Amino acid sequence: MDHQRGQLGGNELCQAQSHIFKHAYSYANSMCLNSAVQLGIPDVIHNHKQPITLTELVSSLHLPPEKTNSLYRLLRLLVHLGFFATTKFNTNEGDLEGYVLTPSSRLLVKSEITNFSPLVRAMVDPVMVATWQSLGDWFHGSEKTAFETAHGVEMWEFCGQNPKFSHTFSEAMASDSTMMNHLVGECKAVFQGLNSLVDVGGGTGTIARIISGAFPPIKCTVLDLPHVVANLPESGNLSYVGGDMFESIPSADAVLLKWILHDWSDEDCVKILKRCKEAIPSKDNGGKIIIMDIVMDRAGDGQDAAEAKLILDVTMMVMVQPVS
Ligand SMILES: C[S@@+](CC[C@H](N)C(=O)[O-])C[C@H]1O[C@@H](n2cnc3c(N)ncnc32)[C@H](O)[C@@H]1O
Repeated sequence: MDHQRGQLGGNELCQAQSHIFKHAYSYANSMCLNSAVQLGIPDVIHNHKQPITLTELVSSLHLPPEKTNSLYRLLRLLVHLGFFATTKFNTNEGDLEGYVLTPSSRLLVKSEITNFSPLVRAMVDPVMVATWQSLGDWFHGSEKTAFETAHGVEMWEFCGQNPKFSHTFSEAMASDSTMMNHLVGECKAVFQGLNSLVDVGGGTGTIARIISGAFPPIKCTVLDLPHVVANLPESGNLSYVGGDMFESIPSADAVLLKWILHDWSDEDCVKILKRCKEAIPSKDNGGKIIIMDIVMDRAGDGQDAAEAKLILDVTMMVMVQPVS
């Protein structure tokens, strides 16, 4: 840069332009990823069990052949972003190139036990997109969150009034919770010895089901807002309670708070934690509170984790909690 005149040189100018383009259009990444999930591309590649050619993909997705080039261009971006990869392979017809899954798209296969596709779908839901579009206005306004600026009420109230969005959001949370399938084995010591656990704000019970399946002696209760847990099927050691965690929490040996505290101000977190303390025995008698949440700025976070955390932090600000 010519610092005296503050002008960018040719290369810097182009890099700066590319940088703006990349981020101004980055919603195109979310939308393309969502369309891949919507089309079922990860599922088709997974079911094919070997690299799949573009022509095979078009046919398996039941797309009109004239969309072949468009699918190629969609996939070219998603390959660049690391969601799919291409590989060469031999067939009777000669050397071909096919698409394969990457570790990220393996987490988008709907039939797999850990499946993040509902999360991808939810993040581009019009309710979410409208919220982000209100962020600039919210800074000048008096509403608590940009969500309220966009929709007139706070998010949990909106969910109570809009079963469709509430379902979409709960499914997104549940899909994140499927990661617990991989963690319970590594965290046995946390759960062993417990007779009962209440998952506070436990949504539709994905984690509670995983814990009660892995540790059958533990009686799991899910506490969430009444509209979230209404009519959910209970089983032997899994039950649901509709209520308000600020009012009271069912008694248990342990309380689990996964992705709860980050939704609330420090004052509200203290209120929730007081209710938790009332619900469990003393520490000497085995009572415990298990908190699973995002920790910002952890040493060793890679580029993706660090960026994902920054994005999630702003997401919380926009959706539910403006005070960090
Ligand atoms: C970010 S989600 C986390 C859901 C779940 N713990 C998970 O990780 O998948 C927050 C949950 O808190 C619930 N919630 C919000 N306000 C609540 C309240 N006052 N009492 C009980 N649950 C509440 C929401 O309905 C939602 O299911």
